[in-house]
Amino acid sequence: MRLVHCVPLAPPAKPVAHKSGFGTTQSCPGITMSIWRFAEFLPETPAEARITLGEGGTPLVRSRRIGPSLGLDHLYFKLETTNPSGSYKDRFAAAAVASMLARGQKLCLATSSGNTGAALAAYCAAAGLPCFVAVVDGAARNKLRQMMAYGARIYSVRRFGLDAGVTTAVFERLARLAAARSAALHISAYRYSPLGMAGVETIAYELAAELKDGPDHVFCQAGGGGMVLAAARGFEQLRRLGLAGRPVAVECVQPEGNNTIAGPLRDGDSQAHPTTSTTKVSGLQVASVIDGDDVIRACRACGGTGHLVSDAAVFDAQARLAREEGIFSEPAGATSVAGAIAARKAGYLRSDATVVCCVTGIGFKDEASVERMIEAAECPTLDAPDDIDCLVPPL
Ligand SMILES: Cc1ncc(COP(=O)(O)O)c(C=O)c1O
Repeated sequence: MRLVHCVPLAPPAKPVAHKSGFGTTQSCPGITMSIWRFAEFLPETPAEARITLGEGGTPLVRSRRIGPSLGLDHLYFKLETTNPSGSYKDRFAAAAVASMLARGQKLCLATSSGNTGAALAAYCAAAGLPCFVAVVDGAARNKLRQMMAYGARIYSVRRFGLDAGVTTAVFERLARLAAARSAALHISAYRYSPLGMAGVETIAYELAAELKDGPDHVFCQAGGGGMVLAAARGFEQLRRLGLAGRPVAVECVQPEGNNTIAGPLRDGDSQAHPTTSTTKVSGLQVASVIDGDDVIRACRACGGTGHLVSDAAVFDAQARLAREEGIFSEPAGATSVAGAIAARKAGYLRSDATVVCCVTGIGFKDEASVERMIEAAECPTLDAPDDIDCLVPPL
């Protein structure tokens, strides 16, 4: 087993003073948060393999304007944007790379629409492991740049991610290659990487610990559905252990242009449907059914449903988060918020419900969407310092 680059944890872990009493703390100097705080709920991992860059422990912020404007008294945002590589996928990468270290695997193969690749690239860099990422056709450039900056090798396959057939063929090819090279293949979905996905379940553990009576609804965005499923499984695990308060409805939000899960879930189908993705929301362009059938089962079991939103509604939610809440999200990250806005307008959410939207990725990830947001803004160059007065209007 590789012992370097891992943050040593101090066994035995001490309970954190949560209202529900679950979760453990680690005593690594300088790092106060980590998914390993919940090691007791994660797949068994030797302490020396528990790699961390300080993922998780993300802020839960109460809405200042969007909630009140909708008549929602208790709307919260879980800011996954603050994770080390800027998205919730760091929870996945920490658990996935830890499983590689525990098994002595020396090569990471992965597929990604951007954020998984960036997260795995970061954690592989920290672990000193090579990382090769097949990126989806049309992935946001800044996500690719981030992967390369961490030293990952990346490549693209035409129509991968957009076309269900090509996507499945790439997954199968990589699975064969991983087996032949004794490599780990990480795709952020239960179907392919259940050990890594267990790391994402920590979002549910944190929310249950942070909100006194727990949330009523948690809105999560879906590409392949892993994120939604992780939240649902996390709450389900707490319920099984008698650690949850009231039941939590996990809500699955998708752009209309990638309706693989949300529509079938809402309409009573038991199966997700592959599609040809047309949405421009990078990260949620997942044409094939990956965890979709399980998402439908899990959301239905906990009382959640599917919500479809237009790309325009997603971009609007992204801009509202920035301008009304001070939260800088990429479009995929704001999709949960677009879903909650639509759900409230449709009368689905009670005004006194405690609603959490997971804001899953930071705005820097998708430069095109930032350009769209600031289209009308300008940064003039002034000839002289005296000209500043004309620029700033009196209040
Ligand atoms: C920011 C962001 N949010 C949500 C998702 C959805 O993840 P999943 O494919 O697990 O549904 C992704 C996927 O890449 C993402 O990048």
